[in-house]
Amino acid sequence: MSEAILPALTVRDLHVQYSLRKGLQTRILRAVDGVSFTLQPGECLGLVGESGCGKSSLAQAIMGIVEPASGSIEIAGLPADKTAIGGLDRARAIQMVFQDPYSSLNPRMTIRKTLAGPLHLHRLCPPSEVEDRIRTLLALVGLEPDAADRYPHAFSGGQRQRLCIARALAVEPRILVCDEPVSALDVSIRAQIINLLLRLKDELGLALLMISHDLGVVEHMSDRIAVMYLGRFVEEGRWDQVLSRPAHPYTRALLASVPGATKATGPGRRMTGEAPSALRPPPGCAFHPRCAEAFEPCRTGSGPPVTMLEEGHCARCHLLTERVPA
Ligand SMILES: Nc1ncnc2c1ncn2[C@@H]1O[C@H](COP(=O)(O)OP(=O)(O)OP(=O)(O)O)[C@@H](O)[C@H]1O
Ligand SMILES: [Mg+2]
Repeated sequence: MSEAILPALTVRDLHVQYSLRKGLQTRILRAVDGVSFTLQPGECLGLVGESGCGKSSLAQAIMGIVEPASGSIEIAGLPADKTAIGGLDRARAIQMVFQDPYSSLNPRMTIRKTLAGPLHLHRLCPPSEVEDRIRTLLALVGLEPDAADRYPHAFSGGQRQRLCIARALAVEPRILVCDEPVSALDVSIRAQIINLLLRLKDELGLALLMISHDLGVVEHMSDRIAVMYLGRFVEEGRWDQVLSRPAHPYTRALLASVPGATKATGPGRRMTGEAPSALRPPPGCAFHPRCAEAFEPCRTGSGPPVTMLEEGHCARCHLLTERVPA
């Protein structure tokens, strides 16, 4: 009998909130407002949405950097808390690659020391094998062995991001969370880093959470895409479903803004104004003030329910509940 493969990551109804004090008043900002998804080994989920929609807050909650207000996170079926997989175990299972490769590396440490740190901390190999492991890690990200003797300033932005990826891989994680890993890089370098991440995903069976405000970046690398707006997933599906049959007006507007991307047909391609603050979300569907197709139900209530459009493809929009028979 074949064993069912456990998801690498399961997130259920996750909420991340920040308390903001102004004078005597405390206000709650709902940065992540009930997000659920699973991520399989060897799968890449592209998470896309405008600045401030909660992508990094979600990533930080998954990493254990911020404490969720509620909801649960499981890593390979185990609760990501102190009772099952906490502290060092969690850091071994999930690693993160950040946007800015310049501030992510300690300028005073050689690359050898930077890569040896996690190997020692997690006691992953005997001291006699550390040098070999460093060479293997550098080769994995396409760098020569002599990179180990140099300091971060000797590398270009793209090479530094390769080094950050090597450091993340040192502990052999199951899951790699990449928060805008190519946004700070030259456009000419971006494809190289994206291809490197894709190769590593396939070779190592890594589960990748790829965060970007740019749908054009996640378009080429994701097996599935989740679109986030003001703390919620508004659409999720296989990449081909989301790109060729975008159901939410917000997804269509994002797609329309990507030069050369697969253009969605149909209405709802216009989006007006800025995203509202998560401190003062509009009533009803949070997207309605910017939506060219909004109608009465969008302006009231607690927001639209999730509609399943086809297997693996769902979206939150009143237009869909009107169109799809119950
Ligand atoms: N430490 C914090 N304290 C208070 N509010 C925060 C904090 N971090 C984020 N926020 C707020 O939470 C919301 C979500 O922010 P977050 O950084 O998660 O968004 P994002 O999608 O990653 O944006 P960007 O694309 O700009 O990185 C925003 O309204 C932001 O101002
Ligand atoms: Mg962010």
